[in-house]
Amino acid sequence: MKDLRVGIIGIGNMGSAHLHCIAGGEIKGMSVSAVCDINCEKLKNAKAEFPRLSVYNDWRALLADSGVDAVVIAVPHPLHAEIGIAAFESGRHVLVEKPEDISVSAAERLNQAAVKSGKIFGIMFNQRTNGLFRRAREIVKGGKLGALKRSVWIITNWYRTQSYYNSGGWRATWKGEGGGVLLNQAPHNLDLWQWICGMPVSVTAFCSVAKFHNIEVEDEASLYTAYADGSTGVFITSTGDYPGTNRLEISGTLGKLVIEDGVLKHWSLKEDERAVCISSARSFCSIDTEYNEYRCGSETAHRGILQNFADAVLSGEELIAPGAEGINELTISNAAYLSEWSGNTSVNIPLDKEKFDRLLKDKIDSSAHNSGKIISEASNKEYLPRWKVRW
Ligand SMILES: NC(=O)c1ccc[n+]([C@@H]2O[C@H](COP(=O)([O-])OP(=O)(O)OC[C@H]3O[C@@H](n4cnc5c(N)ncnc54)[C@H](O)[C@@H]3O)[C@@H](O)[C@H]2O)c1
Repeated sequence: MKDLRVGIIGIGNMGSAHLHCIAGGEIKGMSVSAVCDINCEKLKNAKAEFPRLSVYNDWRALLADSGVDAVVIAVPHPLHAEIGIAAFESGRHVLVEKPEDISVSAAERLNQAAVKSGKIFGIMFNQRTNGLFRRAREIVKGGKLGALKRSVWIITNWYRTQSYYNSGGWRATWKGEGGGVLLNQAPHNLDLWQWICGMPVSVTAFCSVAKFHNIEVEDEASLYTAYADGSTGVFITSTGDYPGTNRLEISGTLGKLVIEDGVLKHWSLKEDERAVCISSARSFCSIDTEYNEYRCGSETAHRGILQNFADAVLSGEELIAPGAEGINELTISNAAYLSEWSGNTSVNIPLDKEKFDRLLKDKIDSSAHNSGKIISEASNKEYLPRWKVRW
């Protein structure tokens, strides 16, 4: 079978890691034929390292290259939908970096273009490949926790320094990035959260702007979510805590699971707690419980998502992270911003997209984004440990 020839749009930190992975032959059935970046120095370096690459400083020119079957989009998030839509319209398969874009409206437009094209659409939710979260999903979706009562995720180990925020002119600005920790780091966790526990029907949030850094967006957020079945959720994230925490706890009528420190702990009740509570004649009682724990499973991470994308195109394999699902975590983070901008009131889902877009535009219009000027921008050329699940 012919290789899937990809063009990578944006060869910064993430795109250059994808480039070296694919060009290094790590993805079966996938090769890289072209790259695009607005930074000519990066193009020069890529060409010097991989002379057979076609290089472009305009993504429209890359899309005109007949040697490209699919694109990997690794530019700042506000460009994801625009480039993705054009790629679908040009007949390419698309793998987009997270988040899908910065607003639900933009994600909807991209999803519609994907459906219209009939092409494969994936999103780089690499943490979906982690064995512990996959196991948690099986437990919850398989009904082993019974009816859910509550989920609580404290994910504060996304520590970032001021120097990180200074490393790209687009970072941590409303115009360049469309948000802070909820838009850049936490999308992985918001996605896993909805993947395991489902989508909320309302979000109430407190988003603290510039609490720990000199930035114009939030570096701490606390969300309270409510679900149609009466269960609730709490999600706390920050880039200013050290040491941070990564702890997910999900309680249901048939038990509880906790993921922390690379271990999934599962308490499984022999009887449904609701039935015991109502029928027991005793004031206090314990319920027979089976306990199991699972150690950190495998995590194929970015390579796993790239391989799965190639296999989806070449042999119809099911996608681990379908691109259209990118809208879910974005709905939660958009709702959190809307709550913050509306006096921390509860925001219903489906979201009032027009109101969100209007208020986001106000933020963007007054953004201090330094019109694309790059302060310092070294590409790492490899997948960084901080992009995998950290405990
Ligand atoms: N999945 C993950 O684990 C993960 C990790 C890091 C970043 N990301 C995502 O990858 C994307 C890029 O992040 P990054 O850290 O690589 O940023 P970066 O700033 O290092 O790289 C972005 C690159 O895009 C280029 N670019 C900007 N505008 C362009 C345009 N119009 N056309 C072509 N190139 C353009 C820039 O010159 C730069 O080289 C973001 O959406 C981010 O959320 C995902």
